[in-house]
Amino acid sequence: MSPTKTEARRGCVRPPHFDILWLPRAALETDPSDCVVVVGVSRPRAALAVLAVLLLSLFLACHLIYDSALSGLRRGGQSHHSHQLPHRPVLVLPRRLYPTAARRLPQAIIMGVRKCGTRALLEMLYLHPMVQKAAGEVHFFDRDENYNKGLEWYRMQMPHSYPGQITIEKSPSYFVTPEVPERIRAMNSSIKLLLIVREPVTRAISDYTQLRANAVAASPSSLPPVAPNVAAQPPKSFEQLAVFPNGTINEVYRPLAISVYHNYLHRWLEAFPREQILIVNGDLLIEDPVSQVQKIENFLGLEPRIGTHNFYFNETKDSTASETRRQTGA
Ligand SMILES: *[C@@H]1O[C@H](CO)[C@@H](O)[C@H](O)[C@H]1NC(C)=O
Ligand SMILES: *[C@@H]1O[C@H](CO)[C@@H](O)[C@H](O)[C@H]1NC(C)=O
Ligand SMILES: *[C@@H]1O[C@H](CO)[C@@H](O)[C@H](O)[C@H]1NC(C)=O
Repeated sequence: MSPTKTEARRGCVRPPHFDILWLPRAALETDPSDCVVVVGVSRPRAALAVLAVLLLSLFLACHLIYDSALSGLRRGGQSHHSHQLPHRPVLVLPRRLYPTAARRLPQAIIMGVRKCGTRALLEMLYLHPMVQKAAGEVHFFDRDENYNKGLEWYRMQMPHSYPGQITIEKSPSYFVTPEVPERIRAMNSSIKLLLIVREPVTRAISDYTQLRANAVAASPSSLPPVAPNVAAQPPKSFEQLAVFPNGTINEVYRPLAISVYHNYLHRWLEAFPREQILIVNGDLLIEDPVSQVQKIENFLGLEPRIGTHNFYFNETKDSTASETRRQTGA
C-alpha cells in the first residue's frame, strides 16, 4: 500500500461507534476513487461476539417457552397436583393466558345402544365448545386386545382438550359386553354415562337392515360364485329370523336380544349409581333435538349453549339434521 493511499483512507468519514459501515459515496469528502462505498465489518471479532450473544438469548427464550409449555402439558388434567417443579424456569409464562391442551381420559362415555343414534348424539354434543370427542369408536373396554394395552394407550386415543372441557367417547358395544361396567368403574367410578335408546322394535329392524347391508357389502359379488345354487338363496326376512315357524319368538336372534335393554342395563346399575346414568330417548332426539340436548348439557354440568340456531329442519328429508358448525368465541 502506498503512503498516498493510506493518507487518503484516514481522511474518510468513519463514525467511530458503528461496527458495520454502509457509507454512501456522497458522504465521503476526500478522494472518491480511494474511499469507495465501504460495505463490510470493520471489527469482525466484536460483531461475532454480538451475534453469538443474540443467538444465545434467542435460544434461551425459545427454550423457556418450550419448557413452560412442556411442564404445563405434563401437569395437564392434574390440577390438584400443585407441587413446584424442582428446576423452575426464571421466566414463567402465566398459564391462564396460555391454556395447556392435553389428552385426557374421558369424563363421559356414550355406552350404547347400537342403532339408536349414538353418532348423532356425539355430533350434537360436539356443537358445545366445552366438549371434545374421540375420533372413532375406541373399543377399549370391550376388546381384550385393547384393554390389555392399558389406560395410557386409551388416553392416547383421546383428542386434545383444555382444562374444563369434557372429553366424550362412544362405543355402542360397551352396553352389551359383560366386562365393561366393572372396567369403566375401575378407571373412574364417578364417570358420567349416556345411554341412548329407541323404541325396541324400531331398533331391532334398524339393526337387521344394517346387518343385511353389511352382508351384501361383504359378499364378493365380483367373483363368480363357487356354488351357484347356494349363493342364489335369497336373504331371510326379519320375520323369518325373529319368529320361529311355530310362532314363538327367537330370543337369541341378536337384533332382538339387544333390544331387550333390561338384560344388559342391570349390570350397569350394579356398578354405578342411577344418577350417573342418563337415558336419552333417541326417538325424541330426532323429533326435538334441542330440548333433549339441553337435558344432557345439564347432566354433564355444561353451560347451556346449544340451541335452535344449531339445527335446521330439512323438510325434504323430513328429519332434523344438525349443522356441524360449532360455536365460536366465549
Ligand atoms: C371422573 O369423572 C368425573 C365426572 O365426569 C370427573 O369430574 C372427574 O374429573 C373424573 N376423574 C378423573 C380422574 O378423570
Ligand atoms: C318352536 O321352535 C323352536 C325352534 O325350532 C323351539 O326351540 C321351540 O321350543 C318351539 N316352541 C314351541 C312352543 O314349540
Ligand atoms: C335434505 O334432504 C334431502 C333428501 O335426503 C337431500 O337431498 C338434501 O340435500 C337435504 N338438504 C340439505 C340442505 O341438507
